[in-house]
Amino acid sequence: MFYQLPPAGEPVIVPGDSPVSSDLGGLFAPYVPSFYGSATSALAATLGAAIARARPPSPEVLLPAYGCPALVSAVLFAGARPRLVDLERDRPWMDLNGLRAALSPNTVAVVGVDLFGIPERYSAIREIISRTGIVLVQDSAQVLARPVDARWLGDYVVLSFGRGKPVSLFHGGAVLARDDVLSRALPLPPLQTPARRGQSGMVWRARFYNLLSSAWLYWLPAGLPFLGLGETRYRPLTLIEAADPLLMGWLPANIRAHWTRGDDIQRSIHGMLGELADNRFVDLPGVCARDATTLRLLRYPILVSDPDVRQRLFDCLGRRGLGASPMYPSALPGVSGLERLFGGVSCTHADSFSRQIVTLPVHSRVRARDIQHMRACFAHTSCGTGTPGQRGGGIDAAS
Ligand SMILES: Cc1ncc(COP(=O)(O)O)c(C=O)c1O
Repeated sequence: MFYQLPPAGEPVIVPGDSPVSSDLGGLFAPYVPSFYGSATSALAATLGAAIARARPPSPEVLLPAYGCPALVSAVLFAGARPRLVDLERDRPWMDLNGLRAALSPNTVAVVGVDLFGIPERYSAIREIISRTGIVLVQDSAQVLARPVDARWLGDYVVLSFGRGKPVSLFHGGAVLARDDVLSRALPLPPLQTPARRGQSGMVWRARFYNLLSSAWLYWLPAGLPFLGLGETRYRPLTLIEAADPLLMGWLPANIRAHWTRGDDIQRSIHGMLGELADNRFVDLPGVCARDATTLRLLRYPILVSDPDVRQRLFDCLGRRGLGASPMYPSALPGVSGLERLFGGVSCTHADSFSRQIVTLPVHSRVRARDIQHMRACFAHTSCGTGTPGQRGGGIDAAS
């Protein structure tokens, strides 16, 4: 009853007594990192640089119509107008014809998002904007690959170290610039503020956070409405936040831990969907990548077009606390606080995507038994019962 997996995120690694490495730059070579208090701040900084470079009369930034409302916060803070590009049908990518049509002499940047960890089609976007001087920003808040595996193709790559991200450190973000010239064009990283808490305060906070994100206690924070976990809300950005120096000191240990984690859970879910071979469940990494096992996902995304099947699946996975999530419940024009900004903007495919998406957790707290339970939920939903354990499904007996 109390078992509830978080939908995403990893425990905070406290570096302990080992000397804190300050070799942050070396982690991302050859890209040049600058650190901020969040990915939203980092994105606002890159867009500030893009605007300063082009200086059109009314700068515009192109964004995918389905995504995190923080993207809009960053664009507005930087002083540009966000313009939405619809998704390609049943894909997490911007529609390339829509992108072409949305370009104008005022466009200063295109922001592509590696949604769930599935890379955007940056080479195609790069070709479309070639010879324009438009900056290509890669929002990789949802994936943190090793430089050797990374598909970093943007002029700037934005990373997040916030809650529920591949490296979860409460807050923090970075911009990786493709070269020194692009790095120097970024608004100066804000002055280093003193650490928000001392080392021991932060260690206790990390322990508490790790405890409450365990599958047996996550129901507690998830049930507190003021924490707004899993909520999609627009929050304006009011300043470019500085990185917390203490947390940045913990970054190398957390990043290295992330890079050495296995991807067995992700592979098991991919295998499970393959065995199920039910075309009502679209294995999004499977259809988006030549080899889905080469991706490093934050969550496993699946499209379920039949609303009844999707609901039955959520009911089943929810009863077993398996961390399934509907992600953002609508395209950006439907997000609370953005209706007026995007009033009248139509994005049919992004709307449809928001009604179909189901994500499964792939983090290190997911166990083999959870995968068995997921498999049973899919199998039973697929045959129309959706209630394993009650109608002869027997997954409870298997646990
Ligand atoms: C794709 C994407 N970009 C940016 C952000 C903002 O990240 P942060 O919370 O670090 O500001 C998020 C947050 O979920 C995100 O998913």
